[in-house]
Parts: sequence; C-alpha cells; structure tokens
Amino acid sequence: MNILVTGGAGYIGSHTCVALLEAGHSVIIADNLSNSKRENVEKIMRLVDKEVTFYEIDVTDEEAVDVIFRNYNIDGVIHFAGHKAVGESVEKPLDYYCNNIVSTIVLTKACKKYDVRRFVFSSSATVYGDNTVPFVESMNLLPTTNPYGETKAMSERILTDIAKSNPAFSVSLLRYFNPVGAHESGLIGEVPSGIPNNLMPYVTQVAKGNLKKLQVFGNDYPTVDGTGVRDYIHVMDLAEGHVAALENLTEGVHIYNLGTGKGTSVLELVNAFEEANGIEVPYEVVGRRPGDIASCYADVSKAERELGWTAKRDVISMCWDAWRFEKNNFLRLPTMLNR
Ligand code: NAD
Ligand code: UFG
Repeated sequence: MNILVTGGAGYIGSHTCVALLEAGHSVIIADNLSNSKRENVEKIMRLVDKEVTFYEIDVTDEEAVDVIFRNYNIDGVIHFAGHKAVGESVEKPLDYYCNNIVSTIVLTKACKKYDVRRFVFSSSATVYGDNTVPFVESMNLLPTTNPYGETKAMSERILTDIAKSNPAFSVSLLRYFNPVGAHESGLIGEVPSGIPNNLMPYVTQVAKGNLKKLQVFGNDYPTVDGTGVRDYIHVMDLAEGHVAALENLTEGVHIYNLGTGKGTSVLELVNAFEEANGIEVPYEVVGRRPGDIASCYADVSKAERELGWTAKRDVISMCWDAWRFEKNNFLRLPTMLNR
C-alpha cells in the first residue's frame, strides 16, 4: 500500500515508517519539522535501504495536503502529526486545538475528496482519565486534565462521526500507553527539546550526567512502592502495532490499546535501567506532579485477538535501546547541569 505518514519524521512516526517499509509498503512522509529533523528521513532510508518520499508541509494547510493526494494514489493515512506536550498545552491551548484538530479535519476532507478509506490515528491512554486499571477500550472515557488530552478525545469523536456517515470509511484509533526506547540500531530515537518532561528521556539525561538527579514525583500513591505506575511500550513494538492495525483494518471504527498490559513503577523503571546498563541513576523523591494519576496500564487482549499483535520487547530491552540511542547521538550538554 501507499501510505501517507503525517509526522513521519518524528519519534513514533519514524519508527513506524521503518516497520511499514520492512513490511513492503511505500511511504510518503508529510512533516513540517516543527519537532523533528529532516535527517531522520535520511536515517529511515538508510535503515531499510529503500526510498521514502518527503514533503515538508504543514498538514493543517489544505492546499499543500491536496497536492500529495493529487500526486499519489494514497491507500491509507497514518496521522501522527501534532503537538504533544501536556504542560505546554495548558499554556497554549489554542495552538493545540488548532494544530491537532485542524490537521485531522484537513486530512479527512482530503480522504473524502480522493476516496481514501483507511485512516489510522495516534490517540493516547490519556483519554481514559483516572479510570480503574487496567484500561479497556469499551470503558467510558473520563475528562483529561489538559487541552492536549482533549484534542485526542475530540479527534476520536470527529473520526467516529465521519465513519458513521460513510460506511466505507475505516478508522483505527490507537491508544498508546507510554512509548519509550529506540530502534535497535541506535540510529533513530526520541529527541526531546530542552529538559525532558517524560521519565525515560529524563533518566537517560541523568545517566549521561547532563542532569544531576531524577526527581521522582510522589511516593505516596496506592501502588506497589508508592510511585506512579505506567505501561511502558517499546517504540518498535508500537510501530509494528501500526502495521498490524493498517493491514487488518475493516470498515467502521476500531479502537485498540497499544501497550504491554504490564505496569511498571517509577522506581522499578529506574532499577531496570541501572541493571540493564550498569549505570547509577541518582534520584530524590519530591511532591506529586499536578495532573498525574497513580496507575495507567492497558488491557491488551483486544489487539491480540483482532490484530494478532502483542508487544514482544521487555523493559530491559527498552532501557538498553534508549541508552544506546542516547550514547550514539548526543554529546554532554554542560548547560543543563545545575537542574
Ligand atoms: P513527535 O513530536 O516526535 O512527532 C510529531 C511529528 O509531527 C513531528 O515530526 C512534528 O514536526 C510533526 N508535526 C507537528 N505538527 C505538524 C503539522 N501541523 N504538520 C506537519 N507536521 C507536524 O511526537 P511523537 O512522540 O512521535 O508522537 C506522535 C503522535 O503520537 C502525536 O500525535 C502524539 O500526540 C501521539 N502520542 C504520543 C505519545 C508519546 O508519549 N510520545 C503518547 C500518546 C500519543
Ligand atoms: N515521572 C517522574 N519524574 C520525572 C518524569 C516523570 O517521577 O521527571 C513519573 C510521573 O510522575 C509518572 C511516570 O513517571 O508517574 C511517567 O511519566 P511520563 O511523564 O513519562 O508519562 P505520563 O504517563 O505522564 O504521560 C505520557 C505522555 C502523555 C500521554 C500518556 C499516555 O507524556 O502524552 O503518557 O499514557 F498521554
């Protein structure tokens, strides 16, 4: 299939492009490089030794998107492009609603115009809010605590309504849990801008000496050791989950959790990182981070049953691969030292 991958130069998108190309699909990337670099596109091609078509465009730009649909016989769209920083979304809600919602509308309008019937959307476990774990696709969604989460819930609703109005349209809403790690080659991975907000990139910066110590946000949650529990999923497992979702897509709306089904606490992740890489990660416990929930992990039985997909890589592999990418790609950044 010819797959348009929006945000394909970014973290999850680039790994998914590799998995798509390895599965024999052709890839057209549309990315405005607002949170990624063009060199990622070259790295994808190097990894699989295949060509990728790249458009540096903003996918909220209807005309620019139309050019791609006009020039290629697109069989399906995987829509990753969007802003994703929870804290920033509270500061700049309009940017988040504009980018994340308008991009979905523009792309689905183009799908309608050019009769493209397959659409895979990057959603997030955040739409479950503070439900009881494990999260199951059939649960009622609870309000999220931030505009970013709301853009995911709204995009899900928009896509569901479109599919209802057009029975030929097939939509897969993929709710990611916590993607971490990097491609096993160490060539592509996650590159957070500035000081990372997420746990794994923060841990790799501490391991490297760029940041002094990890702050553990709260140890008084009702969890195994009091620290927050999450369902970390290796980004290559997540990437392969997209290929499975695309290849098994049938008419209507289908929702899948993409996680491992296993919860890991902050301290368990720190210990796994230390064990996997033989590096100490100093930490201190501080207060809870506003908006955090105690536990978030998936019921993954639906994806296994309907897509024949399960995550294969364990937390130790996630820690190896996150660290390999960090070592291969970045120099020490002394300016960050005093945090
Ligand atoms: P990322 O920032 O690395 O990738 C997003 C890509 O989209 C970037 O390359 C950016 O340049 C591009 N982009 C943003 N707005 C664009 C626009 N208007 N037009 C064209 N390109 C645009 O993020 P990621 O971690 O790879 O996330 C991909 C998707 O998955 C996002 O929609 C995100 O919300 C969702 N998601 C991510 C996580 C996570 O923890 N990383 C969890 C759940 C859901
Ligand atoms: N944590 C720390 N210290 C840090 C960073 C995080 O203790 O410096 C803790 C958090 O409190 C939480 C856990 O590590 O308990 C994971 O936090 P992350 O920030 O890595 O991830 P979140 O689960 O908060 O959120 C992520 C993405 C969201 C997405 C959600 C889906 O950032 O965009 O997963 O489950 F919606």
